[in-house]
Amino acid sequence: MQHLLTGFELDQDGYHQIISLAQSMKAQPKEYRRLLDGMSAALMFEKPSLRTRTTFELAMFNLGGHGVYLDLGKGDLGVRESVADYARNLSRWVDCLVGRVFKQTTLEELAATGSVPVINALSDIYHPAQAMADYMTVKEHLGKVEGVKLAYLGDGNNVANSLLVAGAFLGAHVTCFCPLNCGPDVQVFNKAKEQAAKYGAKLDVTDDLSLLKDYDVLYTDTWVSMGDDTPLEAVKKVFMPYQINEELVKSSNASLVMHCLPAHRGYEITDAVMDGEKSVVFDEAENRLHIHMALLATLLNPNRG
Ligand code: CP
Repeated sequence: MQHLLTGFELDQDGYHQIISLAQSMKAQPKEYRRLLDGMSAALMFEKPSLRTRTTFELAMFNLGGHGVYLDLGKGDLGVRESVADYARNLSRWVDCLVGRVFKQTTLEELAATGSVPVINALSDIYHPAQAMADYMTVKEHLGKVEGVKLAYLGDGNNVANSLLVAGAFLGAHVTCFCPLNCGPDVQVFNKAKEQAAKYGAKLDVTDDLSLLKDYDVLYTDTWVSMGDDTPLEAVKKVFMPYQINEELVKSSNASLVMHCLPAHRGYEITDAVMDGEKSVVFDEAENRLHIHMALLATLLNPNRG
């Protein structure tokens, strides 16, 4: 793996290795303090972030390196200077580009024109590091990912896409319950299905909530993605049947409730569920740090291979 742009760069072993390394780093962080000594990453953010920005910066620090945060929220990337020239400049100074961008094509251009690894920290289509932290959390709580039944409820966004991709490689059974015309990206879904066939995973999309029975994990995310100005109230009627509330948790028999955060309490998830005993949302948030450390170590480790 040279870059992490979509999650399709890895095979099943690659996913298992990164999750295992993240678990080892979580258990024994001191063992890894000098791994990326003197190395650096540019953290390029076109959109706001709490978890991703904090944990990538800390991940570099925890491995002995340094993260340089670049606030690109004013639309500088590709305007003040071309995306390619950003990549060419930054590649002379840092060992990795971490990008949270509006368009997946921006990450692809950074990877094509720069000379250092590029990591997707969220785009319009994918959020691969999020999905890795989520499946690490599932493994911690249920002891495995293979065969685990995960129901994603709500908008078929970048997080849903990446849960399908990573779930396919890890042998999970992922069903996206989404309102009509709000499902995950069709191309991503079809490509993930090809991988699912190899690894015993099952992927489905439906709007039929009567099928939501006997799932191990319920997962949701915001109904309106970052950068979309649609008020939540405007989509509430369509999405409210997919809200994770106590009644839905009970009827599904799920043992875990997940949310990548930030949550819109009272919309896609209720307070009672988010703060309830089945919620592992802050474990997911914590695991972002460990997964980012494992990803950076895998892509940048000067001693590898
Ligand atoms: N889940 C997630 O990516 O959080 P941030 O937007 O705060 O980074």
